[in-house]
Amino acid sequence: MAYSEIYKKIGLEREIYRLQKQAYFGSDREIKMLRNLGVEDNKLLLEIGSGPGYYTKVLLDAFKNTEIISLDNDEALLSFAYKMLNDKNDNYGNRVRFINDDIIKSSLKDNYFDVVIARFVFQHLSDPVKALKEIYRVLKPGGKVIIIDVDSELWGLTYPKNNLINQLNSNLSKFQSSLNGNREIGRSLLTFMKLLNFKNLNIETVINHSDILGKENFKYNIDKALEIDPRMSSILKEYNDFFNLSYSSIMILKLFFYGEKPV
Ligand SMILES: C[S@@+](CC[C@H](N)C(=O)[O-])C[C@H]1O[C@@H](n2cnc3c(N)ncnc32)[C@H](O)[C@@H]1O
Repeated sequence: MAYSEIYKKIGLEREIYRLQKQAYFGSDREIKMLRNLGVEDNKLLLEIGSGPGYYTKVLLDAFKNTEIISLDNDEALLSFAYKMLNDKNDNYGNRVRFINDDIIKSSLKDNYFDVVIARFVFQHLSDPVKALKEIYRVLKPGGKVIIIDVDSELWGLTYPKNNLINQLNSNLSKFQSSLNGNREIGRSLLTFMKLLNFKNLNIETVINHSDILGKENFKYNIDKALEIDPRMSSILKEYNDFFNLSYSSIMILKLFFYGEKPV
């Protein structure tokens, strides 16, 4: 499915803004987790589905001697990322190269990368197994892959329980499925990796919790998502009431799937 089907609903500019917020939201903890999982500096890293390049920037800032190849199949997002990271007088542009390609059938070289990272991409793929086979092919022996994604049943856990957020979650899942994606990808990824012969498998989670990151930030994200589906906008008031409660909270689990290509 073309990713533009998603942002067609809210417009490219707003999608870029949404992805910017999402890239930095809890990113310190994500970087700590990447380091814990063994991502080192001074490596050749493939970032799959780099979008507007904000997470690319997070990675470039965290791993200052790392060279990144960022692959995406959306021309508009790629060209935004290219401009954003080449505009200023910093050295981002020297360490990153953008490639317009599809991870389901890429033209990348065999046995080439030390590390592959794909964040919030697998939920959009029509054939995640093919993508994993491609990752296996392009990794050097001993190379590492980290896939960061969600599973809708671990997304948006609220206190107190809130049916509207459950409903929103379920609508987002249906929307994603209608575009051949899968927001329940989390439960299957490690098993696919095992079947495809990735070794030293591991799974970890980084949690975005509203009492740590600020409830307002979660509310904004979900408001934007709500606008994707006009059927949901009628219940915005009830939704806002939930966030206005002094004691309400929400958490989102980001799952980190780790594997290595055998030596
Ligand atoms: C939700 S965005 C994630 C952007 C970024 N990784 C982040 O975490 O902020 C998903 C990105 O994956 C890209 N994408 C989706 N399917 C793809 C495919 N088959 N090959 C390459 N990129 C793909 C989309 O174009 C989009 O830029």
